[in-house]
Amino acid sequence: MKFSPLVQRITGEGADAWLTHYEASAARDRGEDVIILSVGDPDLDTPPAVVEKAIERLRAGDTHYSPAAGRRSVRQAIAAYHSQRTGQNATTDNVVYLSGAQNALFVASLLVAGSGDEIISFDPMYPTYPATLQASGASMIRAPTRGNFRPDIAALGSLITARTRAIVWATPNNPSGVILHEEELAAIGSLAEKHDLWLISDEVYAGLAPGGHVPGLAARMPERVITLGSLSKSHAMTGWRSGWLVGPRDVANHAESLVMCMLFGAPGFVQEAAVTALAIAPEAERRIRDYCDLRRARLVAGLEDIPKIRAVVPEAGMFMLVDVRESGLSGYGFMRALYESEHVSVLDGAAFGLETAGFVRICFATDEVSLDSGCERIRRFCARL
Ligand SMILES: Cc1ncc(COP(=O)(O)O)c(C=O)c1O
Repeated sequence: MKFSPLVQRITGEGADAWLTHYEASAARDRGEDVIILSVGDPDLDTPPAVVEKAIERLRAGDTHYSPAAGRRSVRQAIAAYHSQRTGQNATTDNVVYLSGAQNALFVASLLVAGSGDEIISFDPMYPTYPATLQASGASMIRAPTRGNFRPDIAALGSLITARTRAIVWATPNNPSGVILHEEELAAIGSLAEKHDLWLISDEVYAGLAPGGHVPGLAARMPERVITLGSLSKSHAMTGWRSGWLVGPRDVANHAESLVMCMLFGAPGFVQEAAVTALAIAPEAERRIRDYCDLRRARLVAGLEDIPKIRAVVPEAGMFMLVDVRESGLSGYGFMRALYESEHVSVLDGAAFGLETAGFVRICFATDEVSLDSGCERIRRFCARL
C-alpha cells in the first residue's frame, strides 16, 4: 500500500540512532550485565508531592476530558513560571499545555512552516529535530557551529533565504551543553527581525543551567519567539509527558486548534500534578542541578587520562561529548565495538549531526555504580585499541 510523503519525512535520517540503545535496553530487561549511558533519563524519582497529587486526583475521579489548550490552572502556573524565568510578561492566553517539549516542537513546526519552506537549526541537534521539523513539509537546514559547538552567526546569516521561516535551537543544547549567550542571541534576533522569522527556543534543559536560568529573546521579541518547555528533565518526569509552548496569542490559538485534531486534551490528573511540580520548581531544579554537577565531575574523573579519547566538558545538561577520532574509529564504530566488547551503550555523535561525527555522547545522569563501571570498561576498551 502507498503511504503519504509525510512517512518519508519522519523516517530515515536519525531514525537508526537509537538501535544500539534499544539493543542494550532489551539485554538489560533480560537480566544481562549492560551499562546504559545512552539516554537522558535520570535515575531520580519524581518529587513525592507530585506523585501524591496525581494519585489524589485519580482517586477523586479526575479521569475525564480536559480542555484542548490545557486547564486554566496549569496554564496559569506555566505562565507565571515562564514569566519569572524569562522576564516575558506571559499570561494563560500565551500558553498551551502539551505532552512534553517533543510534542510542543511538533506543534510549533506545523504552525510556522509548510511545504517548500525552510527551517534552520544548529548542528549538532537533538536527533528528533530533523523528522519533527520536516513533518511540517519544510526542509531542515543545518547551520554549522565552530569551536566547541558555538553557533557560527555569519554562516547562519548566509543560509537564510526567501524560503526561511524559522530558526530553532535548544539552550542548553543537547548534546553539546552549549548555552547561547547574549551576544549570540542578539545577532540571531537581528537576523530574525531583518528577515521576519519565527524563533523557536527549546528550553527543556533550562532548569539545569547554572541558577536555573538561560539568556533568551522571549522578553525582547514576544511577537516572534515560541518557547518550549517541560518537566521531563527539571523534575525527572520524562514518563509523565508534561510540557508546554509559550508564544504569541495567535500561536496559542492555532496550537489549540491543532491539539483538537491530534490530542483532544491531555490527562487532567497529570495537569494537576504539573501545577504541584511547578510550585516546587526551584527546589526540584536545584536537586537535578546538584545531581548533574556531581555526576559530571565523576564522569570527568573517570575518563581522565584514558588514551585516545577527549571529553568535552559541557556548560550544562546531562550529556558529555567525547572525541574518539584519535582511536581511529568513527563514532558509530566506537559505539558498536564498545557495546559488543564491554556491553556499554553510548550514542554515536553522528546521530546529532555532521559536527559531532567522530564523537560519542555519554549521558552521566545515572547511578554512580553504573557510571564508575562504565568508565572502567571504557578505559579497558581504549587500552586494547
Ligand atoms: C533538546 C531536547 N528537546 C526536547 C526533548 C524532549 O523532551 P520531552 O520529554 O519534554 O518531550 C529532549 C529529550 O531528550 C531534548 O533533548
